[in-house]
This record gives sequence, structure tokens and C-alpha cells, in this order.
Amino acid sequence: MKNVVTTGFRRVKPADIQHAQLRERANPEMQAAHTELFVATKGSEQVGLLSLDFPPLPQPLELYEVFVVSERRCQGIGAFLLEQAEMVGRRRGYRSIQLKPHPLDPEQRQEHLVEWYSRHGYSRSSSAPDFMSKIL
Ligand SMILES: CC(C)(COP(=O)(O)OP(=O)(O)OC[C@H]1O[C@@H](n2cnc3c(N)ncnc32)[C@H](O)[C@@H]1OP(=O)(O)O)[C@@H](O)C(=O)NCCC(=O)NCCS
Repeated sequence: MKNVVTTGFRRVKPADIQHAQLRERANPEMQAAHTELFVATKGSEQVGLLSLDFPPLPQPLELYEVFVVSERRCQGIGAFLLEQAEMVGRRRGYRSIQLKPHPLDPEQRQEHLVEWYSRHGYSRSSSAPDFMSKIL
């Protein structure tokens, strides 16, 4: 029988982050006032990082950063992290989520990233064109 490893998700502190690529992204200087970190896992392996900023309501939830380790991309882990971000936001009473699409990897193109978010229901904000947002 095929061994299916499901993707786990949990909140972490910076000290819990083991993967070098993720540790680099979790630099405390790169976080805002109400930032919480989460990791996606495959078995014991940490495969992705999600950084969310929780400003006081009724402001939107901020998706500060989503990052999948390079060797694990294109396996649906990024999409999984977006879904988890939206679920956490809904649970905490947020009505919308917003982000500023900005490639964190030199190999990634801005247009591709914008398309990727669009496919997941995010659209450009008319009031702040640098941002994309989604109703939760
Ligand atoms: C942007 C990023 C988070 C996407 O993560 P990912 O895990 O590769 O995302 P997904 O796997 O969900 O989607 C990527 C592609 O894989 C494909 N894919 C998804 N699941 C798949 C699967 N099971 N098998 C094969 N391909 C799959 C999707 O079609 C998607 O294609 P698309 O990009 O043309 O839409 C990742 O590229 C990354 O970490 N980039 C660097 C950090 C960065 O720039 N972050 C953005 C900050 S704003």
C-alpha cells in the first residue's frame, strides 16, 4: 500500500524552526508587532512557513509571509498554507485577509506570484493597488 504522508500544521516559536531556509525567513527583525509563526510539516520534516500578523479587529488579517522550502515546491504545500491562514483568520473573527505580493526568491516572478494568489481567490485592492485581499 502507498504510504501517504499528510501535511501537518502548527504554531511555532522561532526557536522551534529547524530547516535552515525557514529559519532564515523567521528572522525576528522581519516580523511586525502581532506576528505569529506556523509551520507545515510532512512527518518530522518542516516544509513550509507561514507568518501572520493579527492587528486589532476590524482591520484585516495580514499574511506577512508564506514560504515553502525549495525542494518541496509544487506539491500543494503553498496552497495548504493559504487555506490554513484563512481558517485561522476566520476562527479569530477576521472578515478579510490581505497581503503584498513580493517574491522572496530571485527565481520567482512577481506576475507568477500574483497569478498564483489570484487562482486562490485573492484580488488587487482598489484602494491600495500594491495589496491583494480576499473576503473570509
Ligand atoms: C509561492 C510559494 C509559497 C508557493 O508554494 P508551493 O508549495 O510551490 O505552491 P503550490 O504547490 O500550492 O502551487 C504551486 C504550483 O504547483 C502546482 N501544484 C500544486 N499541487 C500540486 C501537486 N500535488 N502536484 C503537482 N503540482 C502541484 C500548482 O498547479 C501550482 O502551479 P502554479 O504556480 O502554476 O499555480 C513558493 O513558491 C515559495 O515559497 N516561494 C518563495 C517565497 C515567496 O516568494 N513567497 C511569497 C511571499 S508574498
